[in-house]
Amino acid sequence: MALLGSGSMLFLLLLFGHSLGGPPSFSVDYQKDCFRKDGEAFRYISGSIHYSRIPRVYWKDRLLKMYMAGLNAIQTFTTAFDQGGRTQILSIQNLYIPWNYHEEVPGQYNFSGDRDLGHFLQLAQDIGLLVILRPGPYVCAEWDMGGLPAWLLRKKDIVLRSSDADYIAAVDKWMGKLLPMMKAFLYQNGGPIITVQVENEYGSYSACDYNYMRHLTALFRSHLGEEVVLFTTDGAGLRYLKCGSIQGLYATVDFGPGANVTAAFDAQRHAEPRGPLVNSEFYTGWLDHWGSAHSVVPSAAVAKSLNEMLALGANVNLYMFIGGTNFGYWNGANDPYGAQPTSYDYDAPLTEAGDLTQKYFAIREVIKLYHKIPAGPIPPTTPKYAYGTVGMKKLQALSDALETLSFSGPVASKYPQTFIELNQAFGYVLYRTSLPVNCNTPTPLSSPLNGVHDRAYVSVDGVAVGILERNKVITVNVTGKAGSRVDILVENMGRINYGSHINDFKGLVTNLTLGKDTLTGWTMYSLSIDEAVRQGLLDEMRPTDSPQPLALYLPAFYAGSFIIPDGIPDLPQDTYIQLPKWRKGQVWINGFNLGRYWPTRGPQVTLFVPANILSTAAPNNVTVLELEEAPCSSGPCSVEFTATPVLNATVQSQGKWQRRLFSKEDLV
Ligand SMILES: *[C@@H]1O[C@H](CO)[C@@H](O)[C@H](O)[C@H]1NC(C)=O
Ligand SMILES: *[C@@H]1O[C@H](CO)[C@@H](O)[C@H](O)[C@H]1NC(C)=O
Ligand SMILES: *[C@@H]1O[C@H](CO)[C@@H](O)[C@H](O)[C@H]1NC(C)=O
Ligand SMILES: *[C@@H]1O[C@H](CO)[C@@H](O)[C@H](O)[C@H]1NC(C)=O
Ligand SMILES: *[C@@H]1O[C@H](CO)[C@@H](O)[C@H](O)[C@H]1NC(C)=O
Ligand SMILES: *[C@@H]1O[C@H](CO)[C@@H](O)[C@H](O)[C@H]1NC(C)=O
Repeated sequence: MALLGSGSMLFLLLLFGHSLGGPPSFSVDYQKDCFRKDGEAFRYISGSIHYSRIPRVYWKDRLLKMYMAGLNAIQTFTTAFDQGGRTQILSIQNLYIPWNYHEEVPGQYNFSGDRDLGHFLQLAQDIGLLVILRPGPYVCAEWDMGGLPAWLLRKKDIVLRSSDADYIAAVDKWMGKLLPMMKAFLYQNGGPIITVQVENEYGSYSACDYNYMRHLTALFRSHLGEEVVLFTTDGAGLRYLKCGSIQGLYATVDFGPGANVTAAFDAQRHAEPRGPLVNSEFYTGWLDHWGSAHSVVPSAAVAKSLNEMLALGANVNLYMFIGGTNFGYWNGANDPYGAQPTSYDYDAPLTEAGDLTQKYFAIREVIKLYHKIPAGPIPPTTPKYAYGTVGMKKLQALSDALETLSFSGPVASKYPQTFIELNQAFGYVLYRTSLPVNCNTPTPLSSPLNGVHDRAYVSVDGVAVGILERNKVITVNVTGKAGSRVDILVENMGRINYGSHINDFKGLVTNLTLGKDTLTGWTMYSLSIDEAVRQGLLDEMRPTDSPQPLALYLPAFYAGSFIIPDGIPDLPQDTYIQLPKWRKGQVWINGFNLGRYWPTRGPQVTLFVPANILSTAAPNNVTVLELEEAPCSSGPCSVEFTATPVLNATVQSQGKWQRRLFSKEDLV
């Protein structure tokens, strides 16, 4: 309808009962099967971006690239959908809000710096992007515990995502903080938010508690008002929609490339006989797991399905448009336990580092068939710099530094306590006990109930003896005299974010046995490693040279530093760090926790290092906690900064993590 004159425009506007300059409005049109924005027929093409996975300094760059992809424009010709009407789309981005990122401690909210949601929404609006808000409370998103704060587990038997009174009380309090902040950003109130999702794929969750969904609906309405379009998203199958969709919330579906688009939208039609077709998560790529091959989805498959959906006049959200990075400890995991790596590149149209890809341009070409895309230059791919090799020296074994690392001091108890009982959410806890009897021959130290969550580095009298791993290794043999010190450093590798086991307690969550006896008499050290690194406390450590076995070493800290060269314009630039021949651990630069490395398991080999954490004014400090074995035993060791990412090193594929495509069985 590009040729529509302004006269007929006005006529249409009058026809829809709106006048130019009237108050902004956004609604569902059940007669014409579309959205209506300021009275005009409207469909969107949007992309998902998670501000929590991108440094604040890069928000604008990524949002601009989304805008330039054509998640923006005025419809240029008629599709089957807009007979007689004028279809307008505008840039949209689709936004999850992870609760645990903003309320790490109950009642203490953080909306500043990289967590400044208001700033992000303002940037989006300034660029010309509309926003689809997905505030949870549960968001899945391959994010620790699906965005739910771990402190909810202080009530041991809490039923998450249900009418459980304690869960509801926490949700009410959080939403009572968040939603009033969001209200000013609603489209009706002059802001960018056109629709708001309630919960997330609730139909895939076992609880199927309609009272909970009704409670959330009333809660959202009470804070946001009656006018805003609230919606749900579920798998494109009746069995998902059964528990996921309820009266009063517009039901949408999600499915990936390769699906039979007609059949998938037929599923939505079972829940919503009229109204706009919406695919709220069209998968441009897929997530990774440690130990499984890097997920790749061909651009051609994405382009083909996108084209089919746009031809139907459907609304589409590309999940993800940019994946980003699970910095620190924020990655989630799937069940049976398989943790996701640090990179959340997702094989999305923009890479983890925001680079333009062939997929970006393939998507843009498809959108061009339907809409005029914005003119002007696309922000270029950010340059990367290879700072080269940085020598590392050993500081100290973790178990020799407990006074520095355990701010709260040890806790003693007969049986082991979980992270939450110890008031620690993330990272590492050291569990210490002693051998109750002489173990002259190799004696099994076991977790018979598979209660090591998630990986434990075991040593006896300062000698590493083995690793226990959830679902994989439940026994190591130990030898030693009665009274020998047993140290078990337990790593939380990320909480399960999907399915019925999201109550994912960490640490030693069941007893350990030695032979037939339950081990008792534990001393547990909560570790504030991040704070210690930030405060430079590790630098004061003196290297120690305790005797080490050949195969495994004690978890220990290593440090090095590098200077950004002068005379090269525009430094610092982004880079990637890789740790060849190192095995598994955590890495910080200038106190910023970049995340986990595990090149021996893969597929991720390099970690993204954004330029904003680097300094030209002082040497840049690299701190590594290597859990298994650093390559420093026979001479100097190092890490490397490169200009190219490697996320797809070959691994033996262990997981069966299939992309969820729509299938016929879903309709049963
Ligand atoms: C809030 O979050 C920002 C960004 O992660 C961080 O820099 C800041 O220290 C946090 N503030 C508090 C009080 O924890
Ligand atoms: C797609 O699904 C529709 C509706 O169920 C069906 O009529 C059509 O044959 C299917 N197309 C293919 C290629 O399977
Ligand atoms: C432990 O030692 C016993 C006896 O030497 C041996 O049979 C068993 O395979 C060992 N188990 C492990 C996990 O190493
Ligand atoms: C350890 O075993 C004791 C005695 O059977 C039991 O009371 C306790 O609950 C167990 N602890 C855990 C964490 O399983
Ligand atoms: C690195 O550590 C040194 C020594 O503690 C300190 O002087 C320097 O400022 C640190 N560099 C940065 C970028 O923080
Ligand atoms: C990894 O990706 C790069 C760049 O796309 C490609 O050249 C390489 O062949 C891939 N390697 C593997 C093992 O898939």
